[in-house]
Amino acid sequence: MTDVQKRISELTDRIHYLNHRYYQDSVSEISDMEFDALLRELQDLEKQHPALAQTDSPTQRVGGAITKEFRQIRHQYPMLSLGNTYSREELQEFDERVRKGLNGEPFEYVCELKIDGVAISLIYENGVLTQAITRGDGVQGDEVTANARTIKSLPLKLQTSDFPERFEVRGEIFMPFKVFDAINVEREDIGEAPLANPRNAASGTMKMQDSSVVAQRKLDCYLYYLLGENLPSQSHEQSLLRLKEWGFPVSDTWRKCASVEDIFAFIEHWDKERFHLPMGIDGIVIKVNSLRQQEDLGFTAKIPRWAISYKYKAESATTVLESISYQVGRTGAVTPVANLKPVQLAGTKVKRASLHNADEIARLDVRIGDWVFVEKGGEIIPKITGVDLPKRGMFSEPTAFLSHCPACETALVRTEGEAAWYCPNEMGCPPQRKGRMEHFIQRKALNIDGLGAETIDLLFEKKLISDSADLYKLTYEQLIGLDRFADKSARNLLAGIEKSKSVPFPKVLFGIGIRFVGATVAEKLAEHFGSMDNIAKATHEELIQAPEIGEKIALSVLAFFQDPASVQFVEKLKLAGVQLAMPEGKEAESDALAGMSFVISGVFSTFSREELQDKIKANGGKLISSVSAKVNYLVAGENMGPAKLEKATKLGVKILTETEFIEMVMGS
Ligand code: IVH
Repeated sequence: MTDVQKRISELTDRIHYLNHRYYQDSVSEISDMEFDALLRELQDLEKQHPALAQTDSPTQRVGGAITKEFRQIRHQYPMLSLGNTYSREELQEFDERVRKGLNGEPFEYVCELKIDGVAISLIYENGVLTQAITRGDGVQGDEVTANARTIKSLPLKLQTSDFPERFEVRGEIFMPFKVFDAINVEREDIGEAPLANPRNAASGTMKMQDSSVVAQRKLDCYLYYLLGENLPSQSHEQSLLRLKEWGFPVSDTWRKCASVEDIFAFIEHWDKERFHLPMGIDGIVIKVNSLRQQEDLGFTAKIPRWAISYKYKAESATTVLESISYQVGRTGAVTPVANLKPVQLAGTKVKRASLHNADEIARLDVRIGDWVFVEKGGEIIPKITGVDLPKRGMFSEPTAFLSHCPACETALVRTEGEAAWYCPNEMGCPPQRKGRMEHFIQRKALNIDGLGAETIDLLFEKKLISDSADLYKLTYEQLIGLDRFADKSARNLLAGIEKSKSVPFPKVLFGIGIRFVGATVAEKLAEHFGSMDNIAKATHEELIQAPEIGEKIALSVLAFFQDPASVQFVEKLKLAGVQLAMPEGKEAESDALAGMSFVISGVFSTFSREELQDKIKANGGKLISSVSAKVNYLVAGENMGPAKLEKATKLGVKILTETEFIEMVMGS
């Protein structure tokens, strides 16, 4: 094995181990920065030596593989669904069928949460995840292995040794509410229609072609079903325990139940508690525990006879729609919001509900004064799902969507094929102008400390700023003259603005707020084109050739740079000194070598000389060409000249081997 091979395998094992400790034992043995450094080293090595990358490499977590068309794979065991029950009586009937099927033999159940996500089948061979297949039609599904590998809680390689040579494990991939809400906040921010619910979001994400985008969507999963030959368990309970021991994410919420009474206690407990879970569940699954008894009971054509689900009713309430208000967003999209007579729903008082857009109002035919049904999933804002028509007043009138902007009174427009109405007065409409500034200063963009929506309002009203670029012209005198500012807050704000000049280009590109250009797309554009000037010059063909850039985004980027006002705005930013290009040369990795100077000499096995020089610079070190008393370290490769070595020893310069150097950079 060459040194590179050895290092790749060392890094792979170490990262797998650290992942296991983190996700299984909740222990961080090293800092995030040190962890990232290890991962980056492995990525670099794999990039330089693609043939040496291992199939179970932890770098697959960050994605990168593009699948144009998913391969169809036949399931070894068909993926069936479950029968549903909705009442105690129906559960009682299930229990009686099981009892009869087992000829009065004693038995027990395991109850689990029914997670509202997408089913996945994972194949492990010799402890390595080799295939992930969606349910599809139950007989065959899509191979989505590259996408599944980005799910951080899923082990790519097991850290124990007592597992069967080949086995299949099934479970549910889901999008946690937190992730879902954050994605929708961003989608609305960039003028994209929000995702309907976490389940659709999870299934849409698993079918994406670019796994690096999947990685950013932060999916999670729970596993609940072990299949294969010669399994090391006699019961479902043992399977769950084994899976957990092997490092799989298994929800600890399962319980053994001896009777329908027990099952019902479990159901009632989670009917209340489900609103505190980080992900959605739509019911409970009840399974006969013994695998032998499961086999005895068998399957009907579609469903197992040894398991069933109990479905929760969606939590809903009825109340009166008092009025509809309209909000104008940064992109000019006008969103209707329902104002309700306050009503208690799933433990909170609800007074507003989202109505999405004009189509939704028309679909529901919802009118002021109507009694409406409101439902709450795990999402922040509840939604109106229907109208109680028999209760409608005689004189109600269909809702006419606004025709003019509520803020600037410009006539609204709607583009063919889009659901939203827009205020086209981009430059004059105050909420759009202020919205663009709020977008610009947010954490994911220019991240300006000491500035929030209220201050933007104030500065805008006082005519001190008319767009985000004006922030860079603010002076201490201007600020101190305002009510809200004292010496310290004025200085803080100016310092925050100054600091934002070093925010990297991708974030600036996101911050300028081109429609449909979210944080991820901005990164792709920035990496591909390198600078704002290049993006502004890019043709339609060039834009759609960039990774992840489709027709819609390309047209939006073109439209932005065709508008003289945008070009002028970008020009103002350039004068202000914000980053409008990617940095020259290599990106900084860490400051592990800050303040240290290095001389390198000889031949190295992991790095070329040039790479070693880059590595030193990227981690904050200084490169010196010849040995002197000022040099801290000499990194010594093979075949190094004896004169240099002698000089270094004489001057007390520390001598590092290549491995010692790597350890120093990685901080281990
Ligand atoms: S067991 C043969 N357990 O619900 C039994 N399914 O309606 C296989 N699901 O396709 C399923 N949580 O996607 C099982 N704890 C759980 C589950 C679960 C969610 C989903 C799964 C399945 C569907 C059946």
